[in-house]
Amino acid sequence: MADELSLESEFDIQTIRQQFPILDRQIGGKPLVYLDSAASSQKSDFVLDAMSNQARTAYSNVHRGLHTLANETTDAFEKARELVRSHLNAKSVDEVIFTKGATEAINLVASGLAETIKAGDEIMVSVMEHHSNIVPWHFLRERFGAVIKWIEVSEDGSLDMESFRTQLSQKTRIVAVTHMSNVLGTVPDVATIIKEAHDAGALVLLDGCQAAVHLEIDVQALDADFYVCSAHKMYGPTGIGALYGKLDILSAMRPYQGGGEMIDTVTRNGVTYNAPPHRFEAGTPAILEAVGFGAAVEWMQKYVTPDARAYKKAVYERLAEGVRGINGLTIHGTAEGKGPVLTFSIEGTHPHDLAQILDRYGVAIRAGNHCAQPLMSHLKVSATARASVGIYNTLEEADMFVQALEKARAMLLA
Ligand SMILES: Cc1ncc(COP(=O)(O)O)c(C=O)c1O
Repeated sequence: MADELSLESEFDIQTIRQQFPILDRQIGGKPLVYLDSAASSQKSDFVLDAMSNQARTAYSNVHRGLHTLANETTDAFEKARELVRSHLNAKSVDEVIFTKGATEAINLVASGLAETIKAGDEIMVSVMEHHSNIVPWHFLRERFGAVIKWIEVSEDGSLDMESFRTQLSQKTRIVAVTHMSNVLGTVPDVATIIKEAHDAGALVLLDGCQAAVHLEIDVQALDADFYVCSAHKMYGPTGIGALYGKLDILSAMRPYQGGGEMIDTVTRNGVTYNAPPHRFEAGTPAILEAVGFGAAVEWMQKYVTPDARAYKKAVYERLAEGVRGINGLTIHGTAEGKGPVLTFSIEGTHPHDLAQILDRYGVAIRAGNHCAQPLMSHLKVSATARASVGIYNTLEEADMFVQALEKARAMLLA
């Protein structure tokens, strides 16, 4: 407790909160306690203003123009790409492709690698993956006869490395795993997975949707082949995300979609393709959203300090500690080093009912299967409740959540 209080005074959470206008909202007359950042995080004035200013002062289509506005917009768009590159520590901006989000990024990779897959080739995913890192691989199973191998999850929610090792073989072509589970918060030992997968000749895709906001990412140090993320989980806008891919792999990959910008030449008889990243960005991109993504990364570079990370961890621990005393409550995912995601069930209650009652107290959490049905089956539940922490949450809010949850439980079990 003493540690947490001194942490609060060293780290000025109000400086952060003041920048997020939505946090002033009242819900049903109660102050908003937003604990749903793993689904989508809120946006600071810095991000909102960057998008609005771009639209107000220097907006046009990108890349093809010869006039001032087109050039200024292109500069802003490419500056955003450079910011995302620096966030992931990619070697080159050519390795950073703007997509609609992580889902599109994974579909792009699955589609781009499809031709290299033949019947019997194996794709490994873990049981804790989000559907967006499962379904695109099912497409390859359905269309080309790929075999999906499942890496099991251990009792505490960690990735079962034994299960990974016993299934990894010369037949494994792709290993696609999360860098942080959106349900359990687990951070698998991706460095070891990548090394061992590479030794077996497989490519590795990391789903960094949750990790890219909570961890420092270095795709070069990790030696990841692909890394995906979504801006809206990183205090940025929806409709934009990024795919990192090693340049030599991207250069050998077929385009995902055809259209403007992704071509070099088009004739009546054929087409030649542009180099990455443009090869994979057909059509007019989400320009203002890319600018917002860049601004979100810039904002994070300034405010996501070691103190801010420590504070977020303390808020998570306060949540986890607070709910431990609640009768019949199970926390799903307690692996060492997990991210600030508290997923839980309370015996005799439905998560949807809990979420709806919490909303009456101004507390926003998520309930459902979290797009992770294989994990729900593994946990033997159809749905869970989830409270997830963002950089703007406070220790006081953690206490408000716990009090509201106790009341909700009492109400439902009365
Ligand atoms: C771990 C993980 N992967 C992938 C996704 C999909 O992201 P998006 O819907 O932004 O494409 C999410 C979103 O919840 C996620 O949490």
